[in-house]
Amino acid sequence: MQTEIALTDTEQNTRESVNRAVSLLRSGEVVALPTETVYGLGADAFNAAAVARIFEAKERPRFDPLIVHLPNKTMLHDVGEVPSDIAKTVTQLVETFWPGPLTILLPKKAAVPDIVTAGLPTVAVRQCQHPIFHRILKHFGGPVAAPSANRFGALSPTSASLVLDQLDGRIPLIVDGGACARGLESTIVRVRAATPKPVIEVLRPGPITEDDLKPFGKVTFAKRNDEVEDSAPEAPGMLATHYAPRTPLRLLENPSDFSADPEKRYALLSYRGQEKDGFLDLHPWAGVVVLSPGSGRVAEAGIRLFHLLGQLDKGGYDEIIAEPVPDRGIGRAILDKLRKASVKG
Ligand code: TXA
Ligand code: MG
Repeated sequence: MQTEIALTDTEQNTRESVNRAVSLLRSGEVVALPTETVYGLGADAFNAAAVARIFEAKERPRFDPLIVHLPNKTMLHDVGEVPSDIAKTVTQLVETFWPGPLTILLPKKAAVPDIVTAGLPTVAVRQCQHPIFHRILKHFGGPVAAPSANRFGALSPTSASLVLDQLDGRIPLIVDGGACARGLESTIVRVRAATPKPVIEVLRPGPITEDDLKPFGKVTFAKRNDEVEDSAPEAPGMLATHYAPRTPLRLLENPSDFSADPEKRYALLSYRGQEKDGFLDLHPWAGVVVLSPGSGRVAEAGIRLFHLLGQLDKGGYDEIIAEPVPDRGIGRAILDKLRKASVKG
């Protein structure tokens, strides 16, 4: 299969690309689409055969459920139930953060095929903010199931060319909507009724942070699967092996933890590229990339993380050493990705 790239650089090209994407979605095909977080691989959420193609293209195991993207807020009620005891909080979250990078788990409606939710009784929903994605969904007129457009277990792509690196020849179309504005996957939450406040449990940290969610309930974080014993994964995205570049990566919490193998070529993934942080001078690095040069901004580091990891992955290094980023705001999500990508032991 030839993978086509659809441009959105002019209004004329955008119109043609939107039409092409919509007609493929209608015919039960998969299409890679830009979102504000990472590129997604979309298919008609109500068409089980189309959704099956997503799993094939990504080589994703069928036990890993997908996120359903809505063309508008009201369509939430076509795919999910909003239990009355959490309705107020869910409405507040939807009104505050949609369209945007917040995914909410709700009991699923029967109309959603089981393949979308991997047989779970819940469905993950969000309304995406990217203008091109929004236009395609509006024309298509129904919900689109879309996981990140990477091969299973690999880095989520934040540009059309990174999608092509992973899925060339496996999908018919990539709509090139430019680099993703957020660069990290959406925050996934589950809401539970409780007194005195509802509980908002974060299953996957992302661009909507603890501080953003706090006004709406008590925010808790689900444990990672490798910290939980004898229990089935609640969000398979929490599996410890996710988001890894092909090159082994190690998150070095302290510079003093580093000991070099003289045979190996190491690259440094630096937070802000400052000597005083103790990593730059630690070793004659074969390569250095900096997430947020200068005084460091976690939001910028989030935008550039997957892009720079993808670049390092092409550098032929034996190992990537990652500096920690501050554990605040979206830094929490970055650390989560780096820990999951990190080699154990
Ligand atoms: O920003 C995003 O969320 C991107 C863009 C494309 O929207 N999508 C994305 O999808 O990251 P994906 O499939 O790569 O990650 C979704 C995560 C998976 O880890 C999946 O296991 C979890 O959400 N998930 C989906 N439905 C679930 C459910 N019903 N219960 C628990 N976890 C669920
Ligand atoms: Mg993914």
